[in-house]
Amino acid sequence: MSLGSPRLHLRSVGSTNDKARELAEQGAPHGTLVTASEQTAGRGRYGRVWVTPPGTAIAASIILRTFDGLLPLRAGLAVADLAGDAARVKWPNDVLLDGLKVAGILVEARAPEWAVVGIGVNVVSVPPEVADIATSLDRDDVDGALSELLRALDRRVAQPADELLAALRERDALLGRRVRWSGGEGVGAGIDASGALLVDTPSGTVALSSGEVHLLANVNGGR
Ligand code: BTN
Repeated sequence: MSLGSPRLHLRSVGSTNDKARELAEQGAPHGTLVTASEQTAGRGRYGRVWVTPPGTAIAASIILRTFDGLLPLRAGLAVADLAGDAARVKWPNDVLLDGLKVAGILVEARAPEWAVVGIGVNVVSVPPEVADIATSLDRDDVDGALSELLRALDRRVAQPADELLAALRERDALLGRRVRWSGGEGVGAGIDASGALLVDTPSGTVALSSGEVHLLANVNGGR
């Protein structure tokens, strides 16, 4: 069943994720899409603020009624499909272009009833507040990019897990790269079948099932 219908588009909203969660609780069907030209209280992971200036970016939240634990990665890969061959997924679901963040994804769920996949993509330009760490698709058609994204998400959500993980391996921004997380440092060693990030450390391979990792300089010392 295709994602994006029914669609509620708002000129301005606090957060499309908040609106979608409300609709999900009220029984909105699988595939329901909430979009906004502007968000005034957009939310990122870990309670961060997500800025969506009017008309420059995709701010979209999609309600799913069937989903698996790989959903954040499926969404990340769909955004990478939109962003082109150079795009990389930084576990769990940031999407990078030239090492800069082009999109953010916030998945919120009350399993098994619903999940809301919130996707913010800088399409036209980057909010000035984050110009040093973010980039955009450098395209001028936000609605066209949204249609492409929904088609990619449809495909990625339906894709068998083994194929999805293989595709992710090709796009893994952390593979072979030195990373740091709250528990230590190591080298990214791929993503396992549960969606956990594998990290090789001097004391063995650890699997991180949630959290945040930071990229350090390359193993070979370069960038
Ligand atoms: C992150 O990188 O921390 C996640 C950012 C997620 C932003 C999107 S924009 C659409 C949806 N509505 C929100 O309030 N957040 C998500």
